Amino acid sequence: MRALICQAYAPLDALKVGELPEPVPAAGELSIRVEAAGINFYDTLIVQGKYQVKPALPFSPGGEVAGTVVAVGEGVSHVRPGDRVCAFTSYGGYAEVCRARAAQTWPLPDAVDFRAAAAGLVTYGTAWFGLHDRARIRAGDTVLVLGAAGGVGLAAVQIAKAAGARVIAAAGSAERLALCRAHGADVLIDYTTTDLKDAVKAATGGNGADIVVDVVGGPYTEAALRATAWRGRVLVIGFAAGEIPRIPANLLLLKGCELSGVFWDELMRREPAEAARQVADVLAHFADGRLQPPVTAACGLEGAVDAMRSLAARKVAGKLIVLPQAGQGDDRS
Ligand SMILES: NC(=O)c1ccc[n+]([C@@H]2O[C@H](COP(=O)([O-])OP(=O)(O)OC[C@H]3O[C@@H](n4cnc5c(N)ncnc54)[C@H](OP(=O)(O)O)[C@@H]3O)[C@@H](O)[C@H]2O)c1
Repeated sequence: MRALICQAYAPLDALKVGELPEPVPAAGELSIRVEAAGINFYDTLIVQGKYQVKPALPFSPGGEVAGTVVAVGEGVSHVRPGDRVCAFTSYGGYAEVCRARAAQTWPLPDAVDFRAAAAGLVTYGTAWFGLHDRARIRAGDTVLVLGAAGGVGLAAVQIAKAAGARVIAAAGSAERLALCRAHGADVLIDYTTTDLKDAVKAATGGNGADIVVDVVGGPYTEAALRATAWRGRVLVIGFAAGEIPRIPANLLLLKGCELSGVFWDELMRREPAEAARQVADVLAHFADGRLQPPVTAACGLEGAVDAMRSLAARKVAGKLIVLPQAGQGDDRS
């Protein structure tokens, strides 16, 4: 089968499209004909050996997929060959067929198309876990989203709006902020040109944000924490800026606020039933249009390296997907 192949942990340019054997599912696994696969920030890290998960070489990146079940291994009964599904695979998704763990594969409602599922499973799953579970979001909360024009960021904007919150979006350009506005953000802050803490305080009458969604890290985390309200909840989700921030603990004391880690992979591993409930909620919101995963562009396997490069270079607003069944030359749409 055709796949984008990582032969050695190396920069993105080393990835090549080639042939890999089609995976045969072991017990507790299934194989999926991949119709669409999302591109996430960690896909750009895993091929360089910079992610927690280090697959045996050679492998194909691609951590979230939507498609049709080809075959199921022993003990897999919740889906059958031919069923439409989405899955979190960690890697392997930029291929015509991939392997998935049964516990991290979920039936796809008919009303949710493959592209939307592949564009939204990880980002909306993560943002949902953060906002609804860890931060206990309520209507009327003010939610500050850092990196709001990115994959998890835009998902957080939509989920917070759907929950009845007021959303402050922080991103790195006017164009990216316009996308946040189009997805429902109420207040826009360019954190590359404006002091984040002052702008959030100004937008909240001095109170600060009730919830902070932080996928960026670096210097923005402390600025956001300083702009957090009394009893606020700060969600540590990712460090796209590359720097893991050190938090002055006195700020938590002074604000009576919570700092919560959000690690969706671990939720699935440690609490599969709870993860399945949350994924079902997210998919139900996709099915009735309350949440609409944005697909900014789609490409075939040949275009995947360029797409991953754009994401790593901070040039993508929204979400890119790979369509492994598309022929050569059938790129960005
Ligand atoms: N904990 C979990 O379970 C979980 C799940 C999914 C993702 N994540 C993590 O969350 C982070 C965001 O993921 P994502 O899929 O939303 O990524 P993304 O689409 O690339 O968005 C990240 C955003 O961060 C901002 N950013 C600021 N400084 C940056 C820099 N130096 N390089 C790149 N981006 C920078 C960018 O927006 P501006 O240019 O507008 O600032 C970008 O839109 C990643 O670190 C990812 O690994 C964690």
